[in-house]
Amino acid sequence: MANENKWGSNLAFILAMIGSAVGLGNIWRYPYVLYSNGGGAFYIPYLVAIITLAIPFLILEYGVGYNYQSSFTKAIVKLKPKFELYGWMLPVSIFILTIYYSTIIGWDGIYLFLSFFKGWGADPNTFLNVNLLQSTNSLSGVFNFIPFVAIFILLGWFFIWFISHRNLDEGLGRVCKIFVPLLFVVMFIIVVASLTLPGANIGLAELFHPDWSLLGHFDIWMAAFGQVFFSLSLGMGAGFTYASYTEDNIDLISSGLYVIIANCAFENFTALGVFSILGYMSLQSGTPVSEIISQGTTLIFVAYPQVFNILGTLGLILGPLFFFTVYVAGITSMLSTFEVLSIAVQNKFALSRRKVTTILCLIGALASMVYATSAGGYILEIADIFINNIFIIVSVFVECILFAWVFKAEKLIDFMNSRSKTFKLGKWWLLHVKYIIPILLVIIWFGGMHELLKIKTTESAMIVTVLALILIIVSWIFTRMPAKSQDWFETEERIK
Ligand code: PFF
Repeated sequence: MANENKWGSNLAFILAMIGSAVGLGNIWRYPYVLYSNGGGAFYIPYLVAIITLAIPFLILEYGVGYNYQSSFTKAIVKLKPKFELYGWMLPVSIFILTIYYSTIIGWDGIYLFLSFFKGWGADPNTFLNVNLLQSTNSLSGVFNFIPFVAIFILLGWFFIWFISHRNLDEGLGRVCKIFVPLLFVVMFIIVVASLTLPGANIGLAELFHPDWSLLGHFDIWMAAFGQVFFSLSLGMGAGFTYASYTEDNIDLISSGLYVIIANCAFENFTALGVFSILGYMSLQSGTPVSEIISQGTTLIFVAYPQVFNILGTLGLILGPLFFFTVYVAGITSMLSTFEVLSIAVQNKFALSRRKVTTILCLIGALASMVYATSAGGYILEIADIFINNIFIIVSVFVECILFAWVFKAEKLIDFMNSRSKTFKLGKWWLLHVKYIIPILLVIIWFGGMHELLKIKTTESAMIVTVLALILIIVSWIFTRMPAKSQDWFETEERIK
């Protein structure tokens, strides 16, 4: 059988990893994070986070994934059978993330459709919150189902199924080879067009005006580490899973480096475009950039449509291009989050990729319908904080300890160095994965808890509890179900 879970080439692996990293986090999160955390001064904590956390950790994930040639869960079982529950909790939590990620992709799909005729009207803010999402900002809207939103969320799931149910290289590999380069080309066109707009310099000056005083604040360091984490899809099993599909001749160190460079270049380049556009809008409306800038949904679905409205015909070209880019970036990231649970289920229950993908897409699509209600935006925000700020960080801490200490990261050094065409691993790398990263994670975790405590309403506590229960119960069920695959407890190792 043509291996249904192998990349056809190392290029497919690198492009798929870039596709996983470049996502909504780069487009709607990064420009705002950079701006609100000291502008030019933010580059210092950002670079520190890349060097101390991203590079060493990504290489560790790749190395262990490559070694086990299996899902994250199966590797954990091999490493410590008692930890199987944890081995399921990471993929299940990433599946929860995938479900809300599919919602944002769905919203973007709606805007892609509307952008051809500026269907959001003259007041994009009212359109988004009142007409489209009918947001209630509380759980009370959970019974108000919005079919239009549902259709677009389901469409995203259909694409995921359509791509993922094929053999790896024919589906995911091929899509990433075509769409990831396209993503960069289209973004390049958008940014260059934005840079030529009158007022672009106002926005850029605002963005890069460094506020060095912030460097002494804990918040900006936290923001940098959080951004690098999310943007590079670190510790979520995506890098681990994709690396487990590679061939023996893969140069994992250099691949990790290329992925990091491409991702960071993409997000910084995007920030130039975003701020040029905001500068243009500031010039037109006479409102300072600081009052226009926003993050997340408001940036993409309110500020951008406002700009496309002012831009006239150019808006009819840039609008669809922009929402298309966000869509592709979202789908290629979602493919990677989906893969983490999918391969774990395939491994344990000896089921085909086709079958597992179909079942999981149906479950995911059904569960995502809760976001197609008036309470969707509200639940999404809380789910995001729970998964990103709380759960994933604890989970990555455990992962780091298991991989660096129990597995013994030093086992990877010779093999990885022998294939590396760029730099070699040495003591500094071990120092990072064994000591520095776990310590940093503890610090980041306390920051994340601080965020969660800020939204302390009874309702949000209830949502967090429900999510935590779902996570534990589903993972427990997966753990208790008997393995159908003969070799569930006999994971092969590559590195001797
Ligand atoms: N890195 C993606 C982004 O920046 O949007 C988000 C993401 C993808 C997170 C894959 C986690 C993951 F496993």
